[in-house]
Amino acid sequence: MGVSSRLSAVLLWASVALTTTANNNPAIPGLYADPNIVVFNSTYYIYSTTDGFPGWGGKTFYVWSSQDLVDWQRTPEPVLTLNGSSGNVPWSDGNAWAPTIHHRDGIYYLYFSGDNPTYDRKTIGVATGPSPTGPFTAQPTAMILNNEALNASQAIDPAAFVDPATGKYYLFWGNGNPLYAELSDDMISLKSNTLSAVTGLTNFTEASFLVYRKPYYHYTFSHGDTGNADYYVGYATSSSVHGPWNYQGHVLDKRPSEGILATGSSSTVNVPGTDDWYMAYHHFKIPGGDGTDREICIDRATFDWHTGVMRPVTPTLQGVNAERVPSGRYHGWWA
Ligand SMILES: *[C@@H]1O[C@H](CO)[C@@H](O)[C@H](O)[C@H]1NC(C)=O
Ligand SMILES: *[C@@H]1O[C@H](CO)[C@@H](O)[C@H](O)[C@H]1NC(C)=O
Ligand SMILES: *[C@@H]1O[C@H](CO)[C@@H](O)[C@H](O)[C@H]1NC(C)=O
Ligand SMILES: *[C@@H]1O[C@H](CO)[C@@H](O)[C@H](O)[C@H]1NC(C)=O
Repeated sequence: MGVSSRLSAVLLWASVALTTTANNNPAIPGLYADPNIVVFNSTYYIYSTTDGFPGWGGKTFYVWSSQDLVDWQRTPEPVLTLNGSSGNVPWSDGNAWAPTIHHRDGIYYLYFSGDNPTYDRKTIGVATGPSPTGPFTAQPTAMILNNEALNASQAIDPAAFVDPATGKYYLFWGNGNPLYAELSDDMISLKSNTLSAVTGLTNFTEASFLVYRKPYYHYTFSHGDTGNADYYVGYATSSSVHGPWNYQGHVLDKRPSEGILATGSSSTVNVPGTDDWYMAYHHFKIPGGDGTDREICIDRATFDWHTGVMRPVTPTLQGVNAERVPSGRYHGWWA
């Protein structure tokens, strides 16, 4: 073997080794859950629940950021702490769950659920900041109290969505009963006359999330108890943000052969300027996790070329390879 063929053999081996031994799940280290993955400009962000507390008793939100989906950095300090007068969210004493974010006119609006002792239940609030990582200032009172004209079993799991057809800003939320409403122009209140229930989501429990890829609105949600190994992600499509929703079956399920259990609470992101999509979700920590010891993973999401329907996502231990947001982006046909 000559030097150059030996070199290319080594390079081939190295590239095979790199692509087959990637060990990128969990995508972020430690115990976190309910990931909301999003991209602003060329940076990916994950907003999540901090896990590892009995009764889902975490009190803090951190933000993770990455240039390539593989190497993630966490904010050194929590961006919000739900801890009564010891924290910086006046209305909440804990159960900091499942944040999501909108960006509008240079302001970032972080929506989240928390325990609200005034009402003795979970409510949804909002904090605003000048960047995706804050600093965030919480509104003094919660925004969705679950005593509105329509209510859910719990007002939790907000999901931000901008309808590309109209540019309108929405919030979806709810456990047991999926609800949504358009946000007012101030982004910190709802247009109450737009509050509606979502129908057609077979086995909906929680964790609504929407993306748009032509020709459909894609709605994912979780079914079951997050502490149950069978927790899964269901999926529906529609031609409008207002439905009707066509149930499409499961899009993410446990994979016991790999030790992957309780896959749920997903969110999906498009790499701008490409037709590449990634799903972030949590599962029981491997090994030995449970419903309050969960970790966040990322796997590729793909769509059937002919039908435009998302294919079932395979949860892996390998995770994804690095992908940066390309510069010189163009507006693809799918957007
Ligand atoms: C992207 O960056 C520009 C320039 O810094 C900023 O004005 C804009 O608000 C950013 N957009 C998003 C979505 O963060
Ligand atoms: C919450 O506040 C209590 C004091 O009221 C403090 O002991 C505890 O460390 C705080 N927890 C967090 C996560 O900040
Ligand atoms: C939630 O709605 C039901 C009726 O659908 C109502 O009986 C109940 O009082 C409502 N809960 C609150 C807190 O408003
Ligand atoms: C609905 O959930 C139950 C378990 O809670 C499960 O047995 C059933 O298969 C689910 N239905 C669908 C359509 O996935």
